[in-house]
Amino acid sequence: MASKKQALLEPITVGDLVLKNRVVMAPMTRSRADNIENAPTELHAQYYAQRASAGLVITEGSQVSAAAVGYINTPGIYTPAQVEGWKLVTTAVHALEGKIFIQIWHVGRISHPDFFGGELPLAPSAINPNTKSFTPEGFKDTVTPKAMTIDDITQTIADFKQAAVNAKEAGFDGVEIHSSNGYLFHQFFNATSNQRTDAYGGSIENRARFLFDVLDAVKEVFPQNRIGIRLNPSLHGAFGMDADKETIPTFDYIVRRLNDYQLAYLHLSEPFTDVSAVPFLVTNIARHYRPLYKGNLMINNAFDQDKGNKIIEDGLADMVAFGKAFISNPDLVERFENGAESAPWDDATFYTPGEKGYTDYPTLIASELV
Ligand SMILES: Cc1cc2nc3c(=O)[nH]c(=O)nc-3n(C[C@H](O)[C@H](O)[C@H](O)COP(=O)(O)O)c2cc1C
Repeated sequence: MASKKQALLEPITVGDLVLKNRVVMAPMTRSRADNIENAPTELHAQYYAQRASAGLVITEGSQVSAAAVGYINTPGIYTPAQVEGWKLVTTAVHALEGKIFIQIWHVGRISHPDFFGGELPLAPSAINPNTKSFTPEGFKDTVTPKAMTIDDITQTIADFKQAAVNAKEAGFDGVEIHSSNGYLFHQFFNATSNQRTDAYGGSIENRARFLFDVLDAVKEVFPQNRIGIRLNPSLHGAFGMDADKETIPTFDYIVRRLNDYQLAYLHLSEPFTDVSAVPFLVTNIARHYRPLYKGNLMINNAFDQDKGNKIIEDGLADMVAFGKAFISNPDLVERFENGAESAPWDDATFYTPGEKGYTDYPTLIASELV
């Protein structure tokens, strides 16, 4: 049995919240909102409640409007039915003394006209990411999106603000803005996907503007210390995103400027692909950004118990977000407490409807009783 004294299992103060440990459930799309409203259900409540021993649960990406969607069966946070559905989730997690933030999401150009009655998806510029979109009819090639007008941008900022209002009504402890992984915010940051010549393109400051506009709108709804920001600075060759020489200076600017806010946390991912041969990218995100960011730093990607404990002990992160390990180990925290093995996940059921591969992974105790 492992010692209970582990950095991951120490409580942490995040704004006015005390999280019971530093093991965070990473946001993960699970595509179970397969109803006409794209509303969460009792099944979602059961899934998240099973994982409520995490210090913080971050929900799957949840579209802020009908225009923000890019995958089938993802839940939204813009209709009354969706708010009611999310109430089931927050109530279930809170009943177990868990804390839960909702990840608010706009996919931008990683979508398809099939979601919009033939209309084009929105993006900073009319540049096709040349990737795939998971539509109701299966994977399809992405298209050249519509470059957002200033009115589109203003509307989208308002949509994020309204999503925050709805999240509050649904009982969430906070929101995480999904400015990561090649989606809309990331499309604004990147100099290839953003070729605008107005206040939202060109300079680093302009390419970062959309994020700060949204953050300023959302902080009128939630206190700053109930808002998290997610970034993936060295994303390259995935989600239609190719980094360039301006990428890291852009993220450096964003991260430094986030010090002006008293956020709940900054959530960073280590590179999703091997970028060691890309001279202008950072291979060790925590090491690079820890000195730049003054607040709580959450780190993610391919961590296990040992690596998670070590990165906190080394002072390079304050919390660790675990993704796939939480899919197959609802009791991941208890497993860490007991030094138990983690169960493997089945990626065939990541996005399939129903309980299978969703709520049917046993806890250690349950599996020992079988
Ligand atoms: C099934 C699945 C769905 C995901 N959906 C999201 C999402 O909605 N939002 C997000 O920011 N990241 C999403 N991710 C990325 C995870 O949050 C995380 O960054 C990734 O799984 C790497 O962490 P891990 O190695 O601990 O799994 C998803 C990952 C998986 C496996």
